[in-house]
Amino acid sequence: MADVMLRDVRAVFKEDSDPAAVIFGQTAPKEEESDLVGQANYRDGQVYAIDGVDLDIKDGESIAILGPSGCGKSTMLRVIAGLIMLETPNSGTIQYGEENWTELNAKDRRVGIVFQNYALYPHMHSKKNLGFFFKMHKREEEVDERVEIVSKMMGVGFDQLLDRRPKALSGGQQQRVAIARCIVRDPTVFLFDEPLSNLDAKLRTRTRVEIKRLLRRFKITTVYVTHDQTEAQAMGDRIAVMQAGKIQQLGTYREIYDDPVNMFVASFVGAPPMNLIPGKAENGGVRLDGQFVDLRNDALGGVEGQDVHLGIRPESVLLSPHQVEGSMPVQVYWVENHFSEQRKEVTLDFGGTRVICKRPLEEEWDRNTTAYATIPVEESYVFGSDERRIV
Ligand SMILES: Nc1ncnc2c1ncn2[C@@H]1O[C@H](COP(=O)(O)OP(=O)(O)OP(=O)(O)O)[C@@H](O)[C@H]1O
Ligand SMILES: [Mg+2]
Repeated sequence: MADVMLRDVRAVFKEDSDPAAVIFGQTAPKEEESDLVGQANYRDGQVYAIDGVDLDIKDGESIAILGPSGCGKSTMLRVIAGLIMLETPNSGTIQYGEENWTELNAKDRRVGIVFQNYALYPHMHSKKNLGFFFKMHKREEEVDERVEIVSKMMGVGFDQLLDRRPKALSGGQQQRVAIARCIVRDPTVFLFDEPLSNLDAKLRTRTRVEIKRLLRRFKITTVYVTHDQTEAQAMGDRIAVMQAGKIQQLGTYREIYDDPVNMFVASFVGAPPMNLIPGKAENGGVRLDGQFVDLRNDALGGVEGQDVHLGIRPESVLLSPHQVEGSMPVQVYWVENHFSEQRKEVTLDFGGTRVICKRPLEEEWDRNTTAYATIPVEESYVFGSDERRIV
């Protein structure tokens, strides 16, 4: 077991070679529009699916890669697995402890991958699926013992799945078999590509807990790809937030939530995510449409008069039915009750920007009335015109 280290990795595709793009009739946006896309990174008629990534995954650690569709999550897994090699036009290096993996083929890396669609061999019952690798490598004598060990590890009821074919298994059961098939090979690194997205909500939570328990027990180094922040939070010791082929931030959920480095990260974590209100930096505060939020922060001196965004989490906005010191009048735009969470989400109109705040369920707020919002200074964020965090 060892750390996995990626250095300055780039994976480049010709824009017209993406099968999905051909099917859906997408074409790459012009270069000057590429920032607006926010997902894939298009340059010189090519897609930089991974665009200069450094990543250290510690031995036994589980990293979740979180990001929107097309940001390069699956490509990253394929690079680690050796299904995409880092040869021209790709570049960068990948190391597994002392072992240089850059030119090592997929087979010799012994990486285990679990995909969304399980990819079990349909005509084989589960035990054969587990043993297939050993059969291929003429090590059939190991199968019985290994399957028995893994079956015990997989927990209650797993042995009952062994003599069934995939057709006779539910989605969750197929996924357990797919995971067992990876574990049985004693992988160096375990890769998951949205393994739960085919399951219904209840089964997803249950399977998630099981996978996490298994990972804890085996301490296998894991990379877990998802676009669901709840899942990323549950599965990853640390989370890498990706956008347009780049890792924007790497940290625990708490770190990413409390200290987002830029507007993308701020608006990707949290449910609902952080509110971002456009304004101008002025006198250590932010001038919003007709209102001034005095943050008494010197850091804003450097961007005096420039366009900025004031960021505030929905749970941080204070709301009162009448004027209090420092509050500003806002229109209540919409009210939504979330009974199971014992709260409501009140959408406010801040001079044209919609701002969501979370309130206790028992409070009464009426649409199209005036309320008074206060933005606590110590819970405010400010992002510059380059979207980077200033305060
Ligand atoms: N074989 C390929 N040829 C050309 N372009 C590709 C190829 N594979 C991926 N891409 C492009 O690279 C970018 C990243 O793709 P990738 O599959 O890694 O995204 P993803 O983050 O896994 O998205 P999703 O959440 O939808 O699975 C996308 O713009 C995609 O269109
Ligand atoms: Mg993907």
